[in-house]
Amino acid sequence: VAEAILRELEEKCATPTAKLRRVADAMMVEMHAGLAIEGGSKLKMLISYVDNLPTGVMVKVFEVLNEKGLFYALDLGGTNFRVMRVQLGGKDNAIKQEFDEVSIPPQLMTSSCNELFDFIAEALAKFVATEGDDFHLPPGRQRELGFTFSFPVRQLSLASGTLINWTKGFLIEDAIGLDVVGELTKAMERVGLDMRVTALVNDTVGTLAGGRYSNADVVAAVILGTGTNAAYVERAHAIPKWQGLLPKSGEMVINMEWGNFRSSHLPLTVYDYTLDAESLNPGDQIFEKLISGMYLGEIVRIVLCTMAEKASFFGDTIPPKLSIPFILRTPDMSAMHHDTSPDLKVVGRKLKDILEVPNSCLTMRKIVVAICDIVATRGARLSAAGIVGILTKLERDAPKEGEKQQRSVIALDGGLFEHYTKFRECMKATLDELLGEVSNSVVIEHSNDGSGIGAALLAASHSQYLEVEE
Ligand code: BG6
Ligand code: GLC
Repeated sequence: VAEAILRELEEKCATPTAKLRRVADAMMVEMHAGLAIEGGSKLKMLISYVDNLPTGVMVKVFEVLNEKGLFYALDLGGTNFRVMRVQLGGKDNAIKQEFDEVSIPPQLMTSSCNELFDFIAEALAKFVATEGDDFHLPPGRQRELGFTFSFPVRQLSLASGTLINWTKGFLIEDAIGLDVVGELTKAMERVGLDMRVTALVNDTVGTLAGGRYSNADVVAAVILGTGTNAAYVERAHAIPKWQGLLPKSGEMVINMEWGNFRSSHLPLTVYDYTLDAESLNPGDQIFEKLISGMYLGEIVRIVLCTMAEKASFFGDTIPPKLSIPFILRTPDMSAMHHDTSPDLKVVGRKLKDILEVPNSCLTMRKIVVAICDIVATRGARLSAAGIVGILTKLERDAPKEGEKQQRSVIALDGGLFEHYTKFRECMKATLDELLGEVSNSVVIEHSNDGSGIGAALLAASHSQYLEVEE
């Protein structure tokens, strides 16, 4: 019976090329709809107010700041909360950085707005206090901060924006609708920290800025981590819903919030419906729930639950631990999936340590690996289809007649991409499969913690001291 459940899972999760093409096309169609009018699509296609990515501009910034640009960055929304100090404009434009990482206490993720922001401001204040002689803040200057906030935000300007809704493991009702920069600023005042937020960015936008700074061919950034999302550079005149003046650059970075993408072409199973119904945000973030690190292990757990109930997969009794949501984390799933030992030792150990299944036979272990493979493959292939959707929108998915194919670099970051090798490799292989001959000119680049540097660069290019000194 367990084999039958497995076969059905495989069938329902299948992502043949033709299906992925339909997903990519649907993504492109929704991108158009989301850019046309506010609320035109499940894809929010948020305007980031970043209309000038750091390349080029930075040269001027460095001159103006007289090679003494110290900036802070704060990164909230991934697995860890990060504070960072960046010295720009050193020798040969080198970037010097230091950071500190703390995990967010889980209870804070569903606490109150003040509790969360007080925690952040306190951590930041502690970090600022450790600023050493290697870092220089010109006298009389206020410290400035780029704030990476990885949730959907309706930006009011580059340095302000209201939270639309929470995603991933966060749900703090009283923060929804508030300007997160205002809330952070008040919390900093409460802890006596004098600092000004000059840029508020999504992690995808920060990664795009950091990626573009080191490589001018970067056109989009994708996060595959706890959550998943993408941002890309759009032509300003292709954004009908944009009411403001057209930016001089003619460009605008769009935060797609692609985690909320939904289409009838997505291969959803009964397990996905269960996961969604039991989540903090039922009905939302369906694409994210198929792909990202927060959910992959949980899907595997739900499949195993069904196997335990319907096929006595673990014997007569269902292991009690199996009913605990999120007990099987994606890193554990990845470890099992990568197990190359003949008797699948790692799988046996994980089943024992996590689910308290003392004895597992090889057949059982093989089935577990097969489930991991099906779930990870589906996620990886769908994320490749999403990227092809963006390339199609940018008309970089096919060679133009008589023109040389432009190089398109996609900056990628996030723990899932970084640590889940089979996922990463499958995603890349699927991109090649979907792009055919164009695949030679599409490059996936790991932008390690680019979002922090990107946020600091954006904070620098919007520094309050820039105009005064110009
Ligand atoms: C980091 C980026 O490397 O990846 C963050 O700097 C981003 O901005 C994060 O949020 C996402 O990864 P994870 O796996 O921590 O959710
Ligand atoms: C979630 C957030 C999004 C973020 C992504 C990756 O999808 O809504 O803003 O970019 O996770 O961290």
